Amino acid sequence: MTDDRTATVPQGIDARSLEALLTRERAAWIEGRPKSVALHERALASQVNGTPQHWIRQFPPPVPLTVERATGARLHDVDGHDYADFGLAGTAALWGHDHPAIVAALRDQLGRGSVILWPNEDHVWVTEELRDRFGLPCWQFAVSATDANRFALLLARVTTGRDRILMFNRAYHGAVEQTYAVLTEEGVTPLPGVDAGGVDVRRTTKIVEFNDLEALERELAPGDVAAVIAEPVMTNGGAVVHPDPGFHAGLREITRRTGTLLLIDETQTIPAGPGGCVRELGLEPDLITMGKWVAGGVPAGLYGMSEEVAAAAARYTQHGDGGLGSTLASGPLAVRGIRAVLEEVMTERTYAHMTRLADRYARGIEEVIATHRLPWHVGRLGGRVMYAFTPEPPRNAGQPYPRSAALREALWLYLANRGIALDGMSGAALFSPLTEESDVDRHNELFAKVIAELVE
Ligand SMILES: Cc1ncc(COP(=O)(O)O)c(C=O)c1O
Repeated sequence: MTDDRTATVPQGIDARSLEALLTRERAAWIEGRPKSVALHERALASQVNGTPQHWIRQFPPPVPLTVERATGARLHDVDGHDYADFGLAGTAALWGHDHPAIVAALRDQLGRGSVILWPNEDHVWVTEELRDRFGLPCWQFAVSATDANRFALLLARVTTGRDRILMFNRAYHGAVEQTYAVLTEEGVTPLPGVDAGGVDVRRTTKIVEFNDLEALERELAPGDVAAVIAEPVMTNGGAVVHPDPGFHAGLREITRRTGTLLLIDETQTIPAGPGGCVRELGLEPDLITMGKWVAGGVPAGLYGMSEEVAAAAARYTQHGDGGLGSTLASGPLAVRGIRAVLEEVMTERTYAHMTRLADRYARGIEEVIATHRLPWHVGRLGGRVMYAFTPEPPRNAGQPYPRSAALREALWLYLANRGIALDGMSGAALFSPLTEESDVDRHNELFAKVIAELVE
């Protein structure tokens, strides 16, 4: 596989202007944030990379955006700057930072107990609602999407008696060792620089490109794969990668025919609609996982399963020891949050607002792309928008296309220095029920200005 992840300047952009803008915006960021700089210096003495999670250092600003508080769909930093937050913690804050229905529910629950281990009425309400909304009969609670994926994959192995999993190239499903792999000319290879904790991914994992049904057929034919794990629309490959017409039907047909379970990871694709892609695309998986946004800010993950998998899960604990879960999973605080999200926030009305603003934002970018005839495109999935530096949307995430770290950093910094914060990892924008139209318009104005400064 050739790969131009190292290419820094996409077509249409002037390299010298980009360098000058980066230098200027980095300096402006630091100069305007003395308290953030001081806190980062302190943090360097007690945190890896000076950030609470070491990978956060990969985000664009030279010192982290150091938040004093978050309200609505806005961040307020310790140096007195406000930002319209279009990153929304990568969907974990998709409903905004203080949605009144979620805040009221969580405040009330804090006075009634946060972690109890015994079930309550909310657990039943939530699992019934998940069953009706997403179509799978049985649901369990976890602490994160990572956990949900680990548990779901393990149950797939227990259900089928098979060892391997299959994933799509360059998908991300959390800190799940079997997925720390990438497809290269040598076949499945450990992800560079990532330790898979003793798991030999060459033995545990098969990988094919998204939208490649022929390769899928070939890899599933031997009947040794427990489950295919898939984002229904890929969001983690630097662009929004949609399924070809017929891809999901083919994926389901081949998995059924070969006795392979299908796990749909809905963690990042929920901006597609209130029933996620499972409902939007009419999917019929055996397992569904989700996390991040599910409890409105309280850590939680969920995994749903078919009767067949549920029977295997029941067998898993029949000898008394072990079991999949965490003491903190299904705590009443998290479950109350999930109920508030499902009952009061994830409605058609909420999604109409999110999608309307996402349309407006996408139109703004498309106009700028057209004005300057840039060979770029805008990727959309309901309330998620991201642009990529290629004229056509890619069909898979292994396909070479310019990621351009330098341009992404420059755009992020230019916008953030002027009060707009995009997702730190990908530059994507998400739209919450609390996102304001004026912030979308401000973004579009600034985007037009920065591109005018950068084009050849
Ligand atoms: C599709 C997908 N699944 C699962 C996860 C894991 O989520 P978490 O890190 O919250 O456990 C992620 C995280 O980015 C993700 O993008």
